[in-house]
Amino acid sequence: MTDIPWVLVTGGALRLGRETSLAFARAGWNVLCHYRHSVQAAQATAQEVKALGMRCVPLAADLTQVGAAAQLFAQCIAAVPEGPRCLVNNASLFEADDATHADEAMLQRHFATNTVAPLLLAHALAAHVKKLPGQAPGLHCVVHVLDQKVHNLNPDYFSYTVSKLALERSVALQAQALAPHVRVCGLSPGLMYPSGPQTTENFRRAATVNLLQRAIDPGDVARAAVFIAENASLNGCTLRADNGQHLVPLARDVMFAIDENRP
Ligand SMILES: NC(=O)c1ccc[n+]([C@@H]2O[C@H](COP(=O)([O-])OP(=O)(O)OC[C@H]3O[C@@H](n4cnc5c(N)ncnc54)[C@H](OP(=O)(O)O)[C@@H]3O)[C@@H](O)[C@H]2O)c1
Repeated sequence: MTDIPWVLVTGGALRLGRETSLAFARAGWNVLCHYRHSVQAAQATAQEVKALGMRCVPLAADLTQVGAAAQLFAQCIAAVPEGPRCLVNNASLFEADDATHADEAMLQRHFATNTVAPLLLAHALAAHVKKLPGQAPGLHCVVHVLDQKVHNLNPDYFSYTVSKLALERSVALQAQALAPHVRVCGLSPGLMYPSGPQTTENFRRAATVNLLQRAIDPGDVARAAVFIAENASLNGCTLRADNGQHLVPLARDVMFAIDENRP
């Protein structure tokens, strides 16, 4: 067993996942970089991690498949027998619907990716840590990446929102259930990247709808994940890295609200 810890970052190849992989590498962690389709991006992120002097192993899994979480965790153990010290559940599906138009397939896809897989990966980590001799309580942790939306509700992106709400409510439950083997925390970013149908111009305006009136730096969010991983006293809580966006209530998702409120 080496002294250098490993982190598993799901969806670790691009956007916030890439930032998170690099933030952990800068902090002296090796990275298990999970991806689904983005194999080239995962390899590029792995090269960036290696350029920072750390190791990186890309691992593929489609988290909507039955058994995917267990298989992904088994891939981690095959690559790194001591397993990850931290799991960042970052991979996510974000497709547009609203409370009146959610359908079964949409709800199930969002729950599979955004709720079920993160919860099962956390269980797999706890079951693994339980078998390791002499682990200091608080060393291992899970970071469930949430969204400021769960603290600032509106009915847009309904399936996405309820899947993240379930994950947010699970933070305390899993912290209680998986103690003392694994800490479980949430991390709620605000709007960082354009998504779905959003235009660049819409994103530019929406990105500053927060108390600081400036865009949120994904690097700050990624460093908050490292902070949670390295602070053994944090457990069962959720950090909000969103420039205070959760304190700006809107009746609709910000990408729609800014156009509706235009003079
Ligand atoms: N974007 C924002 O502004 C924003 C705001 C608030 C909260 N968040 C949260 O922050 C996190 C990162 O956001 P993001 O925008 O960077 O994420 P993203 O680009 O929407 O998705 C991240 C990765 O998730 C992976 N993924 C999606 N479905 C998957 C599946 N079925 N199985 C395995 N992997 C799957 C994809 O991997 P591949 O590319 O390899 O397929 C994708 O690159 C998410 O949890 C999101 O909810 C984001």
